[in-house]
Amino acid sequence: MSKLVHAQWSSKMTFVLAAAGSAVGLGNIWRFSYMVGDNGGAAFVLVYLACVAVVGLPVLVAEWLIGRRGQKNPINAMAELAGKNAQPKAWALVGASGVLAAFLILSFYSVIGGWSLSYTLGSVTGTFTGQDADGVGAIFEGLLGNPLLLLLWHTAFMALVVWIVARGVVKGLEGAVRTMMPALVVLMVVLVGYGMTTGHFGEALAFMFRPDWGALSGDVVLAAMGQAFFTLSLGMGIMMAYGSYLGEDVNLLGTARTVIILDTGIALLAGLAIFPIVFANGLSAGEGPGLIFVTLPLAFGNMTGGMLLGLMFFLLLTFAALTSAISLLEPVVEFVEERTPLTRVMATLVSAVAVWLLGIAALMSFNVWPEPVMFGLNVFDLLDTFTSKILLPLTGLGAIVFVAWCLDRRSVAAELNLTGGSEQVWLVVARYVAPLGVILVFVNSLLG
Ligand code: TRP
Repeated sequence: MSKLVHAQWSSKMTFVLAAAGSAVGLGNIWRFSYMVGDNGGAAFVLVYLACVAVVGLPVLVAEWLIGRRGQKNPINAMAELAGKNAQPKAWALVGASGVLAAFLILSFYSVIGGWSLSYTLGSVTGTFTGQDADGVGAIFEGLLGNPLLLLLWHTAFMALVVWIVARGVVKGLEGAVRTMMPALVVLMVVLVGYGMTTGHFGEALAFMFRPDWGALSGDVVLAAMGQAFFTLSLGMGIMMAYGSYLGEDVNLLGTARTVIILDTGIALLAGLAIFPIVFANGLSAGEGPGLIFVTLPLAFGNMTGGMLLGLMFFLLLTFAALTSAISLLEPVVEFVEERTPLTRVMATLVSAVAVWLLGIAALMSFNVWPEPVMFGLNVFDLLDTFTSKILLPLTGLGAIVFVAWCLDRRSVAAELNLTGGSEQVWLVVARYVAPLGVILVFVNSLLG
């Protein structure tokens, strides 16, 4: 147990920035938009919003609360709180499955982080200037088809993450988050503005918000729930870890609302920026993981000042990806550090090399190894699917059930400043609606 002396966030703002830095990442822009496209648009978006509100919010609050009370890393916090509340120690499994999820997610996250780095460089060298949809598509195909190039960028991204974590400059990043997050929002708004000039904005709006409920299936709902967990960094214990640094005075519900509004807002803006470009150029919304890379460069390549804006956008996206990736590596490093005699720096290196190796298998899915390995999915899709659709929701379910059913009801209500009616709402949502929602979604998608 290395973290005996537990510091607290210097201010509430620092904590919000760290949580937002973890939450806002590739999930909001890259993953959200391609998931919307793959899953038929508005029905997915609306279910996703419902999942964020009804499941995401209570789970986020539950994770912070566990962390703040446990004052330890997720596995030990769960074990200790379980012991104190006369519950089996097996609850620590919730923490352990989070570490596994972090490891698996980071491996493919780093591959996409690499794409973002590559496009940052591409913007500087003017690769996209004047390109049409075919040209931009060919550039992306060229990247995907070249495993060595993908490896190079994946390696570069992981190296950046390791460098930041090993040097312990994570705290220093918070200042940068404070300026770069608003800058990202401004750029997204500019891109939405560009979308309005394409003449296909209305189509995009309808695609995102006018549901064709016929498109809804068990799997679409599961995908939407998985996205809600992924984008809020839930079900992995990272929010528990952050919660362990939280002072007693921080209002958990209010803070959760702030983080969620920011996170969801950025995702919706990303959709409104990307889909007008899709429709204006006759592209396919269901393009898959490459969606933002074959759409946004079209905007940058054809608008005034596009080169500079493109550079800024991919830089900010890379930065957002880095702050999320750091939060993914952290629990793995902490796990290795506690269970082996390795120093912090060595533990960081060992964890990163393991993640990097798995990432190589993931990037090969786009070229030399596209074949399905299990359940008809290639390595990349398998990693993404298994984590977001299974591990994250299950772990999150564990966290909310633990808080709602195993901790003293009154003390939880007091900690969340709930009384009377609001306490009743919390109880109904945390005890029944959120857990049953997760279970129903599982059952429903199993039945097809
Ligand atoms: N939320 C981040 C994103 O949207 C990714 C991420 C960081 C994450 N930490 C996580 C996802 C923990 C799940 C669990 O890009």
